[in-house]
Amino acid sequence: MKKHILVVPGDGIGQEVTAVGKKVLERIASKFGHEFTYDEALIGHAAIEATGNPLPEETLAKMKASDAVLFGAVGHPKYDNDPSAKVRPEQGLLKMRKELGLYANLRPIKLFDELLGASSIKPEILKGSDILFFRELTGDIYFGEKGRKNDGDTAYDLAEYSRFEVERIARKAFEAARTRRKKLCSVDKANVLETSRLWREVVQKIAPEYPDVEVEHQFVDAAAMMLIKDPRRFDVVVTANLFGDILTDEASQIAGSMGMLASASVGDSTGVYEPIHGSAHDITGKGVANPLASVLSAALLLDISFGLKEEADTIIAAVDQLLKDGFRTRDIADATTPADKILNTETAGQELL
Ligand code: NAI
Ligand code: MG
Repeated sequence: MKKHILVVPGDGIGQEVTAVGKKVLERIASKFGHEFTYDEALIGHAAIEATGNPLPEETLAKMKASDAVLFGAVGHPKYDNDPSAKVRPEQGLLKMRKELGLYANLRPIKLFDELLGASSIKPEILKGSDILFFRELTGDIYFGEKGRKNDGDTAYDLAEYSRFEVERIARKAFEAARTRRKKLCSVDKANVLETSRLWREVVQKIAPEYPDVEVEHQFVDAAAMMLIKDPRRFDVVVTANLFGDILTDEASQIAGSMGMLASASVGDSTGVYEPIHGSAHDITGKGVANPLASVLSAALLLDISFGLKEEADTIIAAVDQLLKDGFRTRDIADATTPADKILNTETAGQELL
């Protein structure tokens, strides 16, 4: 198969982990006889430094012209400490999602058995957890009108959802539930928020079209609690942009570390595949970032954008084998991990495939 992949490393550990994700794609191509070509483009802080724009037109054009994007992360401490900075790395990320119509963010929370002990949650509660989140990605409070009034003393962010936006992500989640354990949990705050009332109304309206899927509605606060109390009760979860952002960071503790969680953003055009973590300034440049989230993002890329299921499964099996062999990056290591089994970003890549 001939495909063109755009690698957009972004900032911080985004650069370090996507290098490993790309290497794994190269190995898969040679193992299975595919012809993947690659290009690179700038986003985030790196793009601001080079062009003044967090998402240069050239990057956007390259994204639209590619078959899939392997993405890293954006961010720099400079902006975290200066909330008033007008040009910001995350503007590039949000604009990319909007421009490419990436309205569905799939976040599989997959727990590798070998990492049962890496979580702060008890193994007997975690064992067998397997959740697929559908986070809506192009609406909600992140994209509504925002600003200040009363001489800057009052700030506002407007949350907005249309029926159309809710329905298209809900349908994707229903369809995914059909291929799994046929359970869908829709998470909202319909007791308080109008956007959530519309959300629930839309999900209830289309539910009869999926009679084989068992639907439940949960308030986000209760869902946050249930997620660590009894993660096994969840199969597919669908939720709004803000709730999904927060719940999936929480859910990363089911998988053991942020460094283990991959995501796929899909919608109207090219799919973008990226770790759920950010640019992690605290470990940038130290070479210790766990690259497995990027490697597993590469697997999602092969599966979802190219339909290469066997190739994707080969990557997941290789990650499983690496963990079975006792290797750990620092974020998932514990006191029992022998020193010669501790991997850094680069050696983790070398141990795979
Ligand atoms: P973060 O996800 O970058 O890091 C949170 C914590 O998890 C840190 O202690 C970090 O060291 C650890 N961590 C994250 N990924 C890891 C990996 N692969 N291996 C080992 N440890 C890992 O979130 P944080 O610290 O809140 O934000 C840092 C920057 O990233 C900020 O500028 C923020 O705006 C940006 N960010 C970007 C995102 C994106 O590009 N999608 C998402 C979230 C944050
Ligand atoms: Mg987040």
